[in-house]
Parts: sequence; C-alpha cells; structure tokens
Amino acid sequence: METTPNQPRTILSAMQPSGGMTLGNYLGAMKNWAIMSQTDNCYYAVADLHALTVRQNPAELRRNIRNLAAMILACGVNPERATLFIQSQVPEHSVLAWLLTCHTYMGELSRMTQFKDKSAKQENINAGLFTYPSLMAADILLYNANGVPVGADQKQHVELARDIAIRFNNAYGETFAVPEPFIPKYGARIMSLQDPTKKMSKSDENPNAYISMTDDNDTVARKIKRAVTDSDGVIEFDPEHRPGVSNLLTIYAACKGQSAVDAAAEFAGQGYGQLKQAVTDAVQSALAPVQAEYARLLADKEHLNALLRSGAEKASAAGRRTLRKVYRKLGLDM
Ligand code: TRP
Repeated sequence: METTPNQPRTILSAMQPSGGMTLGNYLGAMKNWAIMSQTDNCYYAVADLHALTVRQNPAELRRNIRNLAAMILACGVNPERATLFIQSQVPEHSVLAWLLTCHTYMGELSRMTQFKDKSAKQENINAGLFTYPSLMAADILLYNANGVPVGADQKQHVELARDIAIRFNNAYGETFAVPEPFIPKYGARIMSLQDPTKKMSKSDENPNAYISMTDDNDTVARKIKRAVTDSDGVIEFDPEHRPGVSNLLTIYAACKGQSAVDAAAEFAGQGYGQLKQAVTDAVQSALAPVQAEYARLLADKEHLNALLRSGAEKASAAGRRTLRKVYRKLGLDM
C-alpha cells in the first residue's frame, strides 16, 4: 500500500455480528485493529446490514451486534482514537451502496467466489447476497479508506471496491481514494484445534475445534489438551508438514506478540505436553483482561450506547461529506 511516511493511513474494516467470537477473530483481526488504532485513522464497523443477507432472529441479532461492539472495545480499540460504529446506524452506507450498485456489473458480482459458494449452500439466495460486495465497497469508499485489513476470503471484494472506485473516478473525475486490501502484519491465521487444515470457526460442529473469547480457564485448558498434534513428537514451525503443532505455536506466538519461528526455537527439544501447557497459560493470560473489560462494558448499557451513538455520529459526518460530493458528480442534490 502506498503511504507517505508520517502520514497516517485511513483504515476501514468491519466484521459481521454472527455470534460467538473466537480466539481466531481476536488474534487474526481485532487485536490488530487495536494496534492500528494507535497510529492510523481507523473506522471500524459492526456490519449488521451484511448479516441480513442471511435470515436472522431479531432478538439474537440485536444481542450479537452489542456483543461484537463490546468485544471490539474490550480487545483494546480505543474509541477516542478510532471511530467504532454500527453500520445500520449510519444510513449513508445504504445510500452510497445503491449509487455504487448502479456502477457495478452483473458479471463482476457473478464472479465473486463467496457468492458462488454461499448460493450453492444456502436456500435463501436473496438479491442482497448478490449485491453484498457493492455495500462493502460503500463501507470502504465512504471514508476514503486507503487500507483495508482483511482475511484472504474478503480480498476479492476489496479488489472489486477498488475497481469500482477507479471506474467512478474515470467517469466523473477524482472522487474516491482507491483502497488496497492488506493482510495485517501481525494478523495470525488461526486454524481449527481439531482439523488444523481448516480455519478456526465458531460454526464448527465440534466445539473443541475453537476457543471462544468467552471460554473460561478450564474450558481453554481442556480444548488445548485435546488439540490435534502431529505423531512424531517434534516441535518445529512447519505448517505444511506439522499443521497441528504449528497452529499451537502460532497461537502461542500471537498471544505473546512474537514470531512463531522464535516460539518454535523456545520449545525445541520439549514435549507436546509442555508446549500445550505453555499455550494454555498464554491464551488464559491473553483472554483474562479482555473478558474482564467485556463484562464491564456489557454491564453498563448506557455507557456502551453513548459510545456507539457518538461513533455513528462521527462516521455519519464523514460519510455525508463524501456522499455530498458523489451526489453533485452524479447530478443529484442533497
Ligand atoms: N464482508 C466482511 C466479512 O464478512 C465484513 C465487511 C463488511 C467488511 N464490510 C466490510 C470487511 C468492509 C472489510 C471492509 O468478513
């Protein structure tokens, strides 16, 4: 990504409130969000409009939205520095999404691998599932974000947002910053504890496959004890040949803020039992402060509401500036 030294980037990222946040979400995304919010101009959204592409239970959705917002804060995102908001509370997203949808081709949307996967799997193939990437482009372009930290599965969507921005700029003159996806430097890709070739996911039917952000110490210890390792007892960071042990090393290293290769050196010559004990300690110490802060935030409803209100107002003010410009370029008035 092009950035001039000393010039903070504008970062936007978002996560769907699908319930049950895992250690994978924390070490892969939220911990990084907190780190980036120290230096960059960050917008973080709870992407509840995207969640509606799957049929939701309203009471459960409401709970999941609040829980995710509280968890993002608990993971260390500072609401004084970053703008944290709930996507549906900033109506500019939906307005820009329509304007961008009119500049997005059916062919482009049909090529999205996530759409192909989801429409093959789920019965409810609604139009929102298809236009999902133009709403995502609106999320990004509304704030002129130049950096979008995402996992590999969302990279194609950010590339489409980029194409839409370039197309719009070419047609109407310089309007949007052109965003770039990036895989965060400290973002660890955490795999299932039961099948380390798959990503850790809360929708896994085996709860031993993932550590939930709200698991207590005993549960964490039990799940790590049962984690799949390799057969020969050697501790080495080699994700291809030793996916189980490498995943444990990645978890350990990410919790401690070090590299997995260094972690492997630390455990050379030790047994899997010792490694698992150290991973357990590292995860428990990483989760303890987050869980305490999460509980505190959820207990004070008024305070959390006020934070989210103020985040939505800040986001809306920034979004309106972009939207006004887009309106004018298109021949519309506000
Ligand atoms: N689609 C993303 C996901 O499911 C969430 C998301 C929505 C997002 N809008 C975004 C991610 C904008 C990055 C930028 O993970």
